[in-house]
Amino acid sequence: SDMEKGTYPHFMLKEIDEQPFVMRKIINEYQNENNELKLDADIRSAMQKTDRVYIIAAGTSYHAGLVGKSFIEKIANIPVEVHVASEFSYNMPLLSDNPLFVFISQSGETADSRGVLVKIKEMGHPALTMTNVPGSTLSREADYTLNLYAGPEIAVASTKAYTAQIAVLAILAVDTAQAKGLELEFDPMQELAIAANAMEILTDQKDEIEGLARDYLPTTRNAFFIGRSADYNVCVEGALKLKEISYIQAEGFAGGELKHGTIALIEDGTPVIALATQANVNYSIRGNVQEVVARGANAMVISMKGLEQDEDAFVLPHVHELLTPLVSVVPMQLLAYYAALHRGCDVDKPRNLAKSVTVE
Ligand code: G6P
Repeated sequence: SDMEKGTYPHFMLKEIDEQPFVMRKIINEYQNENNELKLDADIRSAMQKTDRVYIIAAGTSYHAGLVGKSFIEKIANIPVEVHVASEFSYNMPLLSDNPLFVFISQSGETADSRGVLVKIKEMGHPALTMTNVPGSTLSREADYTLNLYAGPEIAVASTKAYTAQIAVLAILAVDTAQAKGLELEFDPMQELAIAANAMEILTDQKDEIEGLARDYLPTTRNAFFIGRSADYNVCVEGALKLKEISYIQAEGFAGGELKHGTIALIEDGTPVIALATQANVNYSIRGNVQEVVARGANAMVISMKGLEQDEDAFVLPHVHELLTPLVSVVPMQLLAYYAALHRGCDVDKPRNLAKSVTVE
């Protein structure tokens, strides 16, 4: 069953492996027999009515929100702000005339997010919760719910919920675009299916990624993740995974920000993991890699097919440029898993962390 590890040594590894199947489940759940998207009509009209979406979330769900912002802005043409739930109450932005709040929460129980939900409902604003637990508090108290269909996630470090959130955010963006009569230049569900296949190829390459974890992250105290554009969003999640379970001090940075501070931390042997999946920034991120290598960094480039160079450590299968986070995060999850495993850490139950934080 979903609650058992079966032959897996850890829930985290099982949940990483489930991701292609979760993608296919989501594709099925959100389409009718004519392969048309079937989203709740109320959600569709809420998305059509709003002039600005406010995404509220914490932790990994916040990182999925960053990816969702680019989908909703680029595909559905609606401005989006993404806020860390705990900060929103003190630093509430000026709201637009017709805000729509989208709460992203695997558990649907995070107190920081619920605090914002209670507040914005008092103000009379509409709320949509995207969650893996349909009957959860955030689901019950919001006006609308979108299910993630990832199945129970047991490991404290979130993996399949993140990719499920990204897929459902893409579907929400596409559905809104269709409702508004906007033209799409690609078949989104087909691209999602291609991404699911790519994820499966990656989960079959565990040995290679375990080797990279052994080579690049054996005894290091720190590690940096750099990327630009969509890759930057995945770098912050890759760094979070690594710090959560291996206790390596890790940070994700925008490639362009390196020179404004972080490059001071690069020493002989410092691991720098660079993502290169975006054609328009490939040249610039490669320049960043050269800068850190010149200062002694041990750079590992993870690129996408079509953009790869000979010295790259790992090449991802090609997927649609908007959907690269679904595939580029998989080696990040596996790197974190194997780094933690080799250090003897408790992968599924890292110190000081809880699966869902129900206190503010
Ligand atoms: C906790 C978990 C994280 C998770 C965050 C938000 O901190 O350890 O893995 O991302 O809560 O949880 P949620 O259930 O709201 O997505």
